[in-house]
Amino acid sequence: MRPRSLELRTPRSEAEWDRLHAIRKSFIFDVYHPPDGPWPCEYDPAHPDDRDPANKPLLLLADGEVAGTLRLDLKPDGRAVVRLVALTPGFRGGGLGASMLDLAEDLALASGARALCVNAQPEVVGFYARRGFVPGRWEGCSACPRGVPMTKALMGGLHGPPTPRRGAAKPLLRRAA
Ligand SMILES: CC(C)(COP(=O)(O)OP(=O)(O)OC[C@H]1O[C@@H](n2cnc3c(N)ncnc32)[C@H](O)[C@@H]1OP(=O)(O)O)[C@@H](O)C(=O)NCCC(=O)NCCS
Repeated sequence: MRPRSLELRTPRSEAEWDRLHAIRKSFIFDVYHPPDGPWPCEYDPAHPDDRDPANKPLLLLADGEVAGTLRLDLKPDGRAVVRLVALTPGFRGGGLGASMLDLAEDLALASGARALCVNAQPEVVGFYARRGFVPGRWEGCSACPRGVPMTKALMGGLHGPPTPRRGAAKPLLRRAA
């Protein structure tokens, strides 16, 4: 069932930060970067990038319940990078991932961004493609051969004219705090 309210916002307590880190670790790092796999990478909950004021680690709350997370990194040249995107399994497959991305896009636009960038896992390239991303390298994109760099122009992109956004069915939405 679609939630009545969705909120993408900064964690507000130690418990919420713990949830954010646990989702990233369990559903991104443990899955795509296990220690015995070809691309091992241990999750670091104290990574300095999370404390960069230009980077926004965000939680998605569905009817007040933590459903997922992503980070939006705002770059001075008008790009916004979407990173560390994951929903907990029970919240997948019902359009919430799309809604979370739309909320991040709204936030990026409100912050003046004109392009979104992502390093997609090959398994979810189709998800980003459904939201208007196209494969293409971008400055600072992942050097990992497993990642698929993708971009999406907002308002016509960094230099172009405005383009309308594809429609998305959204429940009651609130922007990040
Ligand atoms: C990727 C993820 C956030 C997608 O969220 P979701 O709620 O399952 O996706 P949605 O239901 O909103 O799907 C939106 C659209 O993308 C499509 N889609 C979703 N996952 C897809 C996938 N893996 N491959 C291709 N298409 C996909 C859906 O079919 C839907 O298409 P539609 O617009 O035609 O209906 C979620 O599956 C997840 O957390 N995965 C594990 C973590 C992960 O892999 N993160 C990616 C790091 S780059």
